[in-house]
Amino acid sequence: MPIVTTTEMFKKAYAGGYAVGAFNVNNMEIVQGITEAAGELKAPVILQVSKGARAYANHKYLVHLVQAAAENYPDIPIALHLDHGDTFELCKDCIDGGFTSVMIDASSKPYEENIALTRKVVEYAHDHGVVVEAELGTLAGVEDEVSVEADKAMYTRPEEVVDFATRTGCDSLAIAIGTSHGAYKFKPGTKPQLRFDVLEECSKQLPNFPIVLHGASSVPQEFVAEINKYGGNMPGAIGIPEDQLRQAARSAVCKINIDSDIRLAMTASIRKYFAEHPDHFDPRQYLKPARQAVKDMVTHKIVDVLGCDGKA
Ligand code: G3H
Ligand code: 13P
Ligand code: ZN
Repeated sequence: MPIVTTTEMFKKAYAGGYAVGAFNVNNMEIVQGITEAAGELKAPVILQVSKGARAYANHKYLVHLVQAAAENYPDIPIALHLDHGDTFELCKDCIDGGFTSVMIDASSKPYEENIALTRKVVEYAHDHGVVVEAELGTLAGVEDEVSVEADKAMYTRPEEVVDFATRTGCDSLAIAIGTSHGAYKFKPGTKPQLRFDVLEECSKQLPNFPIVLHGASSVPQEFVAEINKYGGNMPGAIGIPEDQLRQAARSAVCKINIDSDIRLAMTASIRKYFAEHPDHFDPRQYLKPARQAVKDMVTHKIVDVLGCDGKA
């Protein structure tokens, strides 16, 4: 089937008490690893492209890679989404260029400016059959090379969500409940805990409205250990506990974003490969197990965290 919007996926996810995985893609092996897993498990999937990924791989290559995946797996719905669009022009380029969903992230701007820019993107997107994710609240961590300190991050204010969703017309809303971008989400020794009270209050205010979680990688410790064992240096990399993500997926959260775990899976695999095969130099030799590592990680997320296997 051709790539689709997230509208039907989110309706079913909300009603079914599961979430759809939104995985960041920037090359062929990542697209293949993710969609092989989703295809075999009959799971809906969102492939998302950041501004940085688009600059790295080129818009057309990424659109065609995702379209090729959709042709290869015609039985599952696949959406192509712009992750963290920061300007109207970037969103418009993606809407005009074949994406089915865009995020306008104006969460760092003052409230009224966030509304105005989001509204402008929504009007253009809806005129072109594309859906829009917006964000309220600020996540900690690193996004497109902009770093937000944990103490500067702000939880979403539930009293704002109805006004924001109504005035912008956005189709889904990313909220800040303690997740953050990157591989260093919590200080070693501290207890990672998402603010489920904030999530619950937001969803109470906005019944039947799809909520999105960014910064939701769990930073599996076996990948970190493997990376460190084979020459890497990532002390204190810590993610969101998977039982908390599972709990979120059962709620109004319909989309869970995962990027860092893909990077970790590939890096661990490639580091191990080179340590064990120092004489190899054919990229196919080390990218094949790296692609398999992405597939295995995504399989685990779909089955054990998102709960969206068999929901295509
Ligand atoms: O939230 C940001 C995503 O992980 C994308 O990261 O800008 O390095 O592609 P990137
Ligand atoms: P992670 O860095 O936790 O994978 O978050 C990815 C993300 O939110 C992409 O928008
Ligand atoms: Zn994000």
